[in-house]
Amino acid sequence: MNLEEEIKSYAKKKLTESRFHHTIGCANEAKKLAYLYGEDIELAYIAGLLHDIERETHFFDIIKLAKDSGYHLHDYEMDNPIFLHGAAAVTTARRVWGIENKSIFDAIRHHTLGEITSGRLGYILYIADFIEPSRLHVSNEFRSLVYHHDEKTMLLEVLEQNIKYSNSRGQTIYQPTYKLYNYLKGAADEKAR
Ligand SMILES: [Fe+2]
Ligand SMILES: [Fe+2]
Repeated sequence: MNLEEEIKSYAKKKLTESRFHHTIGCANEAKKLAYLYGEDIELAYIAGLLHDIERETHFFDIIKLAKDSGYHLHDYEMDNPIFLHGAAAVTTARRVWGIENKSIFDAIRHHTLGEITSGRLGYILYIADFIEPSRLHVSNEFRSLVYHHDEKTMLLEVLEQNIKYSNSRGQTIYQPTYKLYNYLKGAADEKAR
């Protein structure tokens, strides 16, 4: 079995059917976006397959895995360990398949809250996670924006939707998400001037 097939069969055993379905959709979408935006297709696909691999793991184990990832973990993440499933996936990628790729690791570590320094692969993964076909709240009209925008403009659109949605439900918007939003908004305003 090649690496992609191995990760898929591991994910199938570890995740519920709907999350597995989301994982495959996200990986395919990430691959498509990588093609559109000139990023490595293979890395994007693997990042998509890995990103939620610890999403259904017990909080106790998520924290342990996340601590071993080597990434700095914020207090608000320790208080809400579900935010750490990306960091936990980094440790699993390393331990189970011997993966050592900073672009993949940065992308999966930061896919939940976003991060300016997560790189183009990180931006692609964040977009793919939001627009993959099983996300029923996303319209096809919104999905088709990827053909008209570069990855930063598309990510800004996705963040706007995410922030609006979280505000409407009274959910907290965390600092990395706002920072990323303001950074992209600033760049877009500058370009428009
Ligand atoms: Fe996730
Ligand atoms: Fe996801």
